[in-house]
Amino acid sequence: MAYFKLQGVSKSFGPRSVLDNVNLFLDEGEFVSIVGTSGSGKTTLMKIAAGLTAPDAGGVFLSGMPVTSFPNHAAIVFQNYSLLPWLSAHANVLLAVESAFPAWTKQQQASQASKYLEMVGLGKAAEKRPSQLSGGMRQRVAIARAFAVEPRLILLDEPFGALDALTRLTLQQELVKLCQEQSPRATALMITNSVDEAILLSDRVVALGRGPAARLSAAVPVNLPRPRDPRALLHDEAAVRVRARVTEFLAAAGSKSGEAAAPVSPRSTSVPAEVR
Ligand SMILES: Nc1ncnc2c1ncn2[C@@H]1O[C@H](COP(=O)(O)OP(=O)(O)OP(=O)(O)O)[C@@H](O)[C@H]1O
Ligand SMILES: [Mg+2]
Repeated sequence: MAYFKLQGVSKSFGPRSVLDNVNLFLDEGEFVSIVGTSGSGKTTLMKIAAGLTAPDAGGVFLSGMPVTSFPNHAAIVFQNYSLLPWLSAHANVLLAVESAFPAWTKQQQASQASKYLEMVGLGKAAEKRPSQLSGGMRQRVAIARAFAVEPRLILLDEPFGALDALTRLTLQQELVKLCQEQSPRATALMITNSVDEAILLSDRVVALGRGPAARLSAAVPVNLPRPRDPRALLHDEAAVRVRARVTEFLAAAGSKSGEAAAPVSPRSTSVPAEVR
């Protein structure tokens, strides 16, 4: 039985159908990414996955139980940091730790918050407020806050979308490290607009077609050993095949909705069907 499941999920806002019969199953410890174009319904899907928005049809299940509110032992990272502006970085992380581990002593909670801030390289900036931090540093705080609660399920909605390319690369590596250091590994669902980011981090990649009524592609497995080097992935044969298949689906979905299809590498036509 899948650990985390979105089954037959559909959602409309008024007459506008945003998601149509979305199905996605994650095994425990798996990292799955959804790659979608802007406005395709990614955040709507993530809010439904997190129990923050109710679907019109279908459901979300965690360990077989319906998810109707934000689950215990879960954490979410949004695109735009979502830190409390009047609290220091440390206090932002501490707040989450206090609510996840209420039985711990104050000292245990504080050192857990410090430990995770140090893991993302913010030990020295712990007492700074979000307004005193750069975008990359704020997102590091948000990531530290998510991992400090030792979540079993982690949801990431374009966590690096607002960052420049170099900061994005650094934070991707930090996320890889945090995931690897977790034992047992959390189950992760990440939304991204970058196929390369999805390939770097995921066990499987799924594409979300352009709306209205967006649907998911079949999942494409990323059979590449870890740790993965983002530069090497640009030329790796298996990574090239995954990139081609995801891009092909997105291009086809775009052309169906009247958009010009993006050019797709001819190499993708010879890709074997290896979808789970
Ligand atoms: N609460 C809402 N009420 C009405 N329409 C909404 C609501 N939330 C989202 N929408 C619409 O649903 C569509 C998908 O929005 P959503 O935010 O899920 O897309 P997205 O893929 O996350 O976009 P982005 O790439 O900008 O992050 C958009 O057309 C948006 O206007
Ligand atoms: Mg969004």
